Amino acid sequence: MSHRMFLKEGRERSVELRHPWIFSGAVAKAPQGAEPGETVEILAADGAPLGSAAYSPASQIVARMWSFGPTPVEVGQDFFRGRIAAAARARGVEPGTLADSKTACRLVNAESDRLPGLVVDHYGPQLVCQLLSAGPERHKDAILAALRELFPGSPVFERSDVKARAKEGLPTRVGPLEGLEPADRVEIEEDGLKFLVDVKRGHKTGFYLDQRQNRARVAKACVGREMLNCFSYTGGFAVHALAAGASKVVNLDASADALAIAASNIQLNGHPDSSFENLEGDAFELLRRFRDSRRSFDVIVLDPPKFAETQGHLQRAARAYKDINLLAFKLLRPGGRLFTFSCSGLVDEALFGKIVAGAAFDSGRDVLVTGTLSQAPDHPWAPGFPEGRYLKGLECFVE
Ligand SMILES: C[S@@+](CC[C@H](N)C(=O)[O-])C[C@H]1O[C@@H](n2cnc3c(N)ncnc32)[C@H](O)[C@@H]1O
Repeated sequence: MSHRMFLKEGRERSVELRHPWIFSGAVAKAPQGAEPGETVEILAADGAPLGSAAYSPASQIVARMWSFGPTPVEVGQDFFRGRIAAAARARGVEPGTLADSKTACRLVNAESDRLPGLVVDHYGPQLVCQLLSAGPERHKDAILAALRELFPGSPVFERSDVKARAKEGLPTRVGPLEGLEPADRVEIEEDGLKFLVDVKRGHKTGFYLDQRQNRARVAKACVGREMLNCFSYTGGFAVHALAAGASKVVNLDASADALAIAASNIQLNGHPDSSFENLEGDAFELLRRFRDSRRSFDVIVLDPPKFAETQGHLQRAARAYKDINLLAFKLLRPGGRLFTFSCSGLVDEALFGKIVAGAAFDSGRDVLVTGTLSQAPDHPWAPGFPEGRYLKGLECFVE
């Protein structure tokens, strides 16, 4: 008989509404003898079956739903093949060989694709996966077998080096799971532009795929204009801006490695060294230095890292967002545009809007919000899982 986990009275509602997380405080009776990652049946206090979940005894999120409803699922290779194929198709990617692929895309977006804790990205033929919680960790072989079936011949590299794994009591693991280790730089194309990606050591799985649409949108505003790409990483926004005809881009980032790849990416797309400037340092300091030296720009992108990791960080994060947005408004030339983002899930659209409004007000500039921005469609969210909707942005015009 499978392991069973009973919820406290009244705590079944969020599962019925298809939220995939069960917090330890909602549990009336934990499954006896279940191992980390094992599949457990979730039951309401009255015994009504709610679905099947992966057990994570070390985590505050003690179970993550694989399926909802009364019929339990068999979690194994067939299950993963079906779910991964469905996720790929939702992105217009037909399972099959990726040998000739030059593009990159997130194929599986964890909870949002009904595969909690599993991320799979592809960079051309190369697959990169992250196993973020106990469920995928336990079923790693089945996941790998499913990937082999769906994308024959594709090498698979594991990037399970995220902080979330520590909360699950899981160690960091990075290395090839299938095929050879990837090159230090994997070349991909995005909208016909070339990018080098460090899938072995770069942020996330190497590239911020979630900003794809926004890069194209920003580029349109950069024709003949000077752009400050603040928190530039490997220059994604800069390459798009230069391709659209920006007069110059300035990349600003704290990481020398990321800036070195940004320079390579700009050169790889045929732009001269005079087309860009790379500044390594702390954005909070450098933006102040620009203000003090009266340096100005036509377009500014602010794409900072996640400032709010926990609820306790929220106030400090709000201050940090306001600080950089206020500085950015001050640095814009008349007729300029700010594209400002937050990837902190805890800062929702309404709060982000208020922070940016406060910054606009304090800057004394006349500001219009000319667009709302979100994550790329290969980072979908499920309606019952609002946490999946983490990236938000505003396009602001400054008179
Ligand atoms: C969300 S990523 C930016 C992604 C990038 N816009 C892209 O499209 O590829 C955030 C970047 O901020 C950089 N960073 C973090 N803290 C910083 C700081 N205080 N000053 C400057 N850069 C910082 C990180 O190195 C990282 O490259």
